Amino acid sequence: MNEKLIKESKEYVIKKLKSTKRAGISDLLEHMEEIGFFTAPASGGNHLCCEGGLVVHTAGVMQYAEKLGKILYSPEDWKKMKASVYIVAGLHDLGKAGAFNKAYYVENMIKDGRPTKANPDQKYKRSESKPYEINKDMLHIDHPQLSVKEADLYIELTEEEYFAILFHDGMYGSLAYYLKGHERPLQTLLHFADYWEAQFVEGKELPVPEKEDKE
Ligand SMILES: [Fe+2]
Ligand SMILES: [Fe+2]
Repeated sequence: MNEKLIKESKEYVIKKLKSTKRAGISDLLEHMEEIGFFTAPASGGNHLCCEGGLVVHTAGVMQYAEKLGKILYSPEDWKKMKASVYIVAGLHDLGKAGAFNKAYYVENMIKDGRPTKANPDQKYKRSESKPYEINKDMLHIDHPQLSVKEADLYIELTEEEYFAILFHDGMYGSLAYYLKGHERPLQTLLHFADYWEAQFVEGKELPVPEKEDKE
């Protein structure tokens, strides 16, 4: 992974989240640093499954969410919703950095050959196709729920923001059945931005975060 892209993505995510001026955001950013948000992968074996992948993914989602927000909301509504868009896009995958003092992703070690009489110990190696796996020490809680839990420790999410993060996987998420018929604009916007970024951008043409916010 391109170190410059990781660095620029980190600066971009921090700048945009700070721009919301949400009470507690600086403490949350410190917490994100501590739990390894800026070095975590974005997935186990799919999009950006490498060190720093999560922050690059997050910066990309924030940019698409901003673009969509400017198009889909009226100028007046965009002004009102701007901070919420940055908050939900910036924090939607926070749970992928970990929670309950445990990392969400750990190195995926797979069997390396078979033990023989001469070498009876099973050897292991890092998987190349799926370098990370979800930590088996974690209970079965999906990452959007961990994201709202972690964010809630430091900042107050509005009900719309909480809903958007919790249901950001839309009809592909584990909560799809519960979401059906209850979709919301902010949640749908976040889902589109996340889906577009993960499915169509990453691994093909990586987004380069904008250096300056021209507003
Ligand atoms: Fe996610
Ligand atoms: Fe995501």
